Amino acid sequence: MSLTENNTGSGAFVCACIFTKNYFIAKYNMHIDFNGNLDEKVVLELRRKGAAEKELKSIVSDLKDELSRRKHLSETSVERAAIISTCYTRKHPHLFALKREFLHPKLLEMVAVAKSTQATANSIACMTETCAEKVWRFPVFTNQFCNEFIDEMCNFESSDAPKGRPNTMNNYGILLNELGFDSGFLNDFRVNYIYPIARLLLPEWVGDGLDSHKAFTVKYKHGEDLDLSYHFDNAEVTINICLGKSFEDGSLYFGNMKTEHNNLLHTTEVKHKVGYGILHRGQHRHGAMEISGEDSERHNLIVWLRSSSLRNKLCPMCGTTPELVSQPKWGDGFTKPEINRSQESSCQLS
Ligand SMILES: [Fe+2]
Ligand SMILES: [Zn+2]
Repeated sequence: MSLTENNTGSGAFVCACIFTKNYFIAKYNMHIDFNGNLDEKVVLELRRKGAAEKELKSIVSDLKDELSRRKHLSETSVERAAIISTCYTRKHPHLFALKREFLHPKLLEMVAVAKSTQATANSIACMTETCAEKVWRFPVFTNQFCNEFIDEMCNFESSDAPKGRPNTMNNYGILLNELGFDSGFLNDFRVNYIYPIARLLLPEWVGDGLDSHKAFTVKYKHGEDLDLSYHFDNAEVTINICLGKSFEDGSLYFGNMKTEHNNLLHTTEVKHKVGYGILHRGQHRHGAMEISGEDSERHNLIVWLRSSSLRNKLCPMCGTTPELVSQPKWGDGFTKPEINRSQESSCQLS
């Protein structure tokens, strides 16, 4: 497998914890474990928060639907991608192959520095705005690219094409692998532009390379999603790029790491700027504040960057050695250990 692939070639795996952990009950803002029945402690907590018996039943029914969705995630995604590739007419076909002209000149400058032999974390960090501990903001895309990309997303959203949603917390996002952005755009973007920067800023989170990703857009608008609850990502490194359009408020806020006691008292607000990406550790807890203003509408492109060499040892979602479950395509960035060993030896020989 080369770093330019989104590691589907060597098998696609998820950790079995996807079926039992991190279920989100939006109304009560709770993340819970679910095995087909609600845990007694969860029932008590839901009752304490005001859920009546009838509502508990409907919550269980929703959670069972979500379990079923997770069990068929990969095959339904492959089915949708096949339909999209034949039925969806792209409005801006040139967007699907990454070109340097899409990228902000400042990003190209940063990447050139990052790829030079003398590059250090400091030489890159001083070209960014440091917004919180290990959270950096820097320009990524030109305004023209952002506008055209949003237009493509809106065109897709209004089409009859089938749509999957990126996760249970975002109801209006678009999965970019299904839309066909991986091979011509996102693999190149990950390997040649974001990895060189992440390697210097977050060396402990890239392992032997960021060899796969999951990329999606999210949208915040009145009458749709307004904010995003506090969470951590299924990623080693995340870049969250604001595409526009126009919005008030809706900043990101960062707390502490997943491995630390969950404490929401001390968070740092980081404002979005159109065309700018916010780079952070996937395990750094964060959320998005509510947008305000009647006409506010914000679209973001989020790329979860994954390192199989790190997550094969420790699943970021359950915090233990992953129990691999094979998928038809598009797993969560895990690979079979024997594939990794042969890769390592071929790397040492070359
Ligand atoms: Fe996130
Ligand atoms: Zn796991």
